[in-house]
Amino acid sequence: MGEKYKPWIIFLLLLIITCSRARELVGSGTENKILEAISDENHETVHTEHEHAHVHSHTDHMNPSVMVFLTLEDLKIGKTMAVYFPKRDPATSPKLWPREEAESLPFSLKELPNLLKVFSFSANSPQAKAMEDTLRECESKAIKGEVKFCATSLESMLDFSQTILGLTHELQVFTTSHQTKSSVTFQNYTFENIVEIPASKMVACHTMPYPYAVFYCHSQESENKMYKVALGGENGDRVEAMVVCHMDTSHWGHGHVSFQVLKVEPGTTSVCHFFPADNLILVPKVEQHGLSTM
Ligand SMILES: *[C@@H]1O[C@H](CO)[C@@H](O)[C@H](O)[C@H]1NC(C)=O
Repeated sequence: MGEKYKPWIIFLLLLIITCSRARELVGSGTENKILEAISDENHETVHTEHEHAHVHSHTDHMNPSVMVFLTLEDLKIGKTMAVYFPKRDPATSPKLWPREEAESLPFSLKELPNLLKVFSFSANSPQAKAMEDTLRECESKAIKGEVKFCATSLESMLDFSQTILGLTHELQVFTTSHQTKSSVTFQNYTFENIVEIPASKMVACHTMPYPYAVFYCHSQESENKMYKVALGGENGDRVEAMVVCHMDTSHWGHGHVSFQVLKVEPGTTSVCHFFPADNLILVPKVEQHGLSTM
């Protein structure tokens, strides 16, 4: 019976961790931490799969941060490839806010001038730019066959996910986890184990730069597959990484960064990508028999 509460336990743990970290920050330059957090994230280039990020300059040289894409054919035990995993310092990452607190503030582009006042950011600051980009992306239209939502609290993330995944299902949450401590973000990894996790539907939630935790959550109708991949890094790092594969990419724009990285044409192949550590994948819990335990 305890099984039933597992997903909630994960969330409670997340909450407790976040709350205790939030407490540590009280009275110790919280504003500076927010500033750092936002400008840190400003350097990340891959926020969502649909963003046509600043991938390549005019040379063939790729920004390492886009080195997260692969095809299903690449997903083989023994394969070695260079993968980029952004690492955020939890102490400077935006904190989850309780729903009441987050919803007491507007979350819209037209309110940006007021929001900047609330957070004491000047209109020309990098923080203002980051907030503007996030609000703009959150207000952009979903592509065909996709549902999207920006969650400003854990509660709203769960509500959205339950609506998409079905109210009668329990949720299960997957994340990429780093099992060793190191500051290396880009290196060669060997795929040591690969487990497919059955997921009829999924909601992927990506962290966005903002003064408090905001997740860009989206779900696609077309077929997706999900894998948990054990990676061994050249320097001995170990990562339990989540990979999602989009089987149909025919509706994606030609300029999508994954096509440039993989050097393929839209719709000709599956596109898979590694998930950074603080992103979440929510799926309906499957009644398991004979599946490898997670
Ligand atoms: C990965 O290995 C290849 C082949 O040894 C090497 O050319 C490449 O520079 C390595 N990449 C990284 C990021 O270390």
